[in-house]
Parts: sequence; structure tokens; C-alpha cells
Amino acid sequence: MVDMKRKGIILAGGKGSRLSPITLGVCKQLLPIYDKPMIFYPLVTLMLAGIREILVITTPNDQKSFQTLLGDGTNFGISIKYAIQREPKGLAEAFLIGAKFIGNDQVTLILGDNLFYGSSLVSQLKDADRKEEGATVFAYPVRDPERYGVIEFDKDGKGISIEEKPENPKSKFAITGLYFYDSSIIEKAAKITPSLRGELEITDINLMYLREHKLDVEVMGRGMAWLDTGTFDSLHEAGSFIRTIENRQGLKLGCPEELAWKQGWINDKELEDIAKKMLKSGYGEYLLELLIT
Ligand code: TTP
Repeated sequence: MVDMKRKGIILAGGKGSRLSPITLGVCKQLLPIYDKPMIFYPLVTLMLAGIREILVITTPNDQKSFQTLLGDGTNFGISIKYAIQREPKGLAEAFLIGAKFIGNDQVTLILGDNLFYGSSLVSQLKDADRKEEGATVFAYPVRDPERYGVIEFDKDGKGISIEEKPENPKSKFAITGLYFYDSSIIEKAAKITPSLRGELEITDINLMYLREHKLDVEVMGRGMAWLDTGTFDSLHEAGSFIRTIENRQGLKLGCPEELAWKQGWINDKELEDIAKKMLKSGYGEYLLELLIT
């Protein structure tokens, strides 16, 4: 059996116009979700799927800040590379920008403002990662499906149609910003054309897989949280959510250094060195405590 590799892409460009004026000077994915920058959460989601080669796509203006924050990934025991999206021309452009990085491998795309939390997350990620052919997307019930790509299921629970931001949604299930694709993704991305709103739509890619009967739609149930952070309220709610759970448990969510150490991707000494630089905020203290508990 050929050992297929899976790469990860975090798409962290966009305008963030719904968060103006906050995002006039700072990019959305660098804003805090309680005690860490937003991008840590999607980064950890990819790491939980076992992905260790990651491309971060940003606007030209913001690339330097992401490089300052994440470096080459050494602190997290992974490799991080960077690429630029000049204009927000759609989610599917990520595969054209990242074509060289992806090569002949499989790829997982996550949006830089998407947070996932729940006890079945890791098993769902691992299942999707194991699949060598086709695509896996995740459906989540939301109150406002018209803001998203909406999937319709038949009576056997099989996905039968997807519509991007429909006026009259056929279900309440939105497709989340986490997509697992096989190595035919670049070929597919090269075939689609911009939509009426001028974007290369990820929905068009998912429809191609659907037509080939190669799209798995996994439902994330009410035991899971999928939060996107694009508005004042959702940004605030995500921060409160993380704060509530972390304060109750004394454990952190979305902490890439902790995960890297637990996976054995960085050693005790490396964790200690990272921690010592952040003692004042308590984040470093948390990392140090991992070493003694
Ligand atoms: P959106 O929230 O749809 O767009 P946005 O972040 O620009 O925000 P707004 O609608 O307020 O202007 O994007 C979802 C995610 O995808 C977000 O992390 C930004 C990213 N994105 C890109 O990086 N490039 C793109 O071309 C698009 C459309 C989105």
C-alpha cells in the first residue's frame, strides 16, 4: 500500500469586514479568543488530525504577523509554511495557491476563524484522515443556515444536494469550514469558475465529489460545538465559551504547545524553554505545570 500523506491548509485571509473597525488594523484570525490568538484553534484541530505539514494562507499585509506568531512551526513540532492570497477570491482558491505545497498528497483545509470542540472530534478527524479516496465534510445544525453552504439529506441520511447561501434552505445543516480531500483536489479546483459573487466556491468542489458519489458528509451533533467568529457577538461568545470551559477544568483548549508535547513532537526541555518566555500571562505557567503533573 502506498503511504499517502495528508497536508493541512489554514485559510486566514479575507476582509473581516463584519468586524470593522476592529479588523481595520488587525486581521481577524489574530484576534484573541479568550487567552490565545484565534488561529491557534484551527491549528490545533489540524494537529489533532495528525497533520504536521501546514500551509498558512494570509493577505499580503498580514503575513509577517503570522510568521512572528507561529514561526516555522518548531515550537509546535510541526512544519509551517506561508503563502499569500492577494484578494479574497474564494475558499477554493486555497488549492490553487497551495498546489505546489500539496503536490500529490491529500489535503485538509480549515478556515482560520472556525473553532471545533467536542468529545467525538478526534475520532471524527481520524476517520476522515484515514480515507484515501474522496472527500469528507462535516454538517452541523444551525439556526441561520442561509449564511452557509447547506446540505440536504435523503431519508437514509445520505447527502443529496448542496446549495451555497440559499434563500430557502432545504435543511438546517450547514457545512462547516473543515474539509478533507483526496489528491484529485487540485485538478478539481482548476476546473471551477468564479460564481456570480466573483468567488471560487468550495461548494462547487463539494458538488463535484457529490456527483462522483465520493462525498462523505459526517454530521456533528449537539454534543459538539462549531463556532465561527466573524461577527461581534460570535467573537465574544467564542471567547466566553472557551473561558467557561477552561476555568471550570483548569485545562486549556486549543493549546498547540501542549498537544505537541503530548504527542511527543517536542520534548520536555523544548516545552520548558517555550513556557519560560510566557510566565507573566499564566500561559507559560500552565505549560510548565504539565511537566510536573
Ligand atoms: P468569511 O467570514 O466569509 O469572510 P471574511 O473573513 O473576509 O469576513 P467578512 O465576511 O466579515 O468580510 O471567510 C471565512 C474564512 O475564510 C475567514 O477565515 C477568511 C477566510 N477567507 C479567505 O482567506 N479568503 C477568501 O477568499 C475568503 C472568501 C475567505
